[in-house]
Amino acid sequence: MDNAVAKTVIDIAPDQLPSHIGVIMDGNGRWAQARGKHRSDGHRAGVEALRRLVTCAVEFEIKYLTVFSFSSENWRRPQDEINTILGLMKKFVASDIGTFAKNNVRIRILGSRKGLNSSVLKMIQEAEERTTQCTGLQLNIAFNYGARAEILDATIDIAERVARGELKTQDIDEDVMSRALYTGGLPDPDIIFRTSGEQRLSNFLLWQSAYSEFVFSQEFWPDFSRSSFLDLLHTFATRKRRFGNIE
Ligand code: FPP
Repeated sequence: MDNAVAKTVIDIAPDQLPSHIGVIMDGNGRWAQARGKHRSDGHRAGVEALRRLVTCAVEFEIKYLTVFSFSSENWRRPQDEINTILGLMKKFVASDIGTFAKNNVRIRILGSRKGLNSSVLKMIQEAEERTTQCTGLQLNIAFNYGARAEILDATIDIAERVARGELKTQDIDEDVMSRALYTGGLPDPDIIFRTSGEQRLSNFLLWQSAYSEFVFSQEFWPDFSRSSFLDLLHTFATRKRRFGNIE
């Protein structure tokens, strides 16, 4: 490990570190294009960047990491690109699951399971089951995820519980809603981080990001490095969070 870098990080007080980081890994295609490569090379390099992110999160004892890997809108992309991303995701889970388990990393896949084929469902089930006992970093992979669909699914679930007499309308509060989301049981993200210069949420964690700090970087996702992660921690440490209160 680079000592100078490690020292910089020690300068951040533990209570100034985020507990939950949400990441929109954007710019794989532009990274590839800038190098005269195919978009699939960008996604492959994106997986390497994801591995670097997970390594950093484990090292700095971040409790939750939620990465946007495939949105419900990404099905609109050309079929060969969809196949590449699905293939990379399956390969990533299959090849890294042993390392995750060894590093005490728990995997959870967030998103709608509707319409997913059996091989994808099997991959999700295996990833979650093999790491269910892990108590270190929880890596949430948002896959077939869309925040509006998530809020709708939660609303339908709550309405059905009311219809069955399991829940009273007057007992519906923010906590009931939060628990009904795909992220049920997770704390809200402290940071939403997006690469590639775009500054929008793109249907990611809309409910959960009400009080998140937003951090945007110019670099394309495949260029994400340990130094980018340290920059992110430092930026977060400078933010004053008031949650609607005053200092
Ligand atoms: C955004 O880049 C990235 C995606 C839509 C997919 C993210 C996928 C990976 C990092 C690899 C697979 C994921 C896992 C979990 C193994 P873009 O294609 O939108 O880039 P562009 O905006 O430059 O075109």
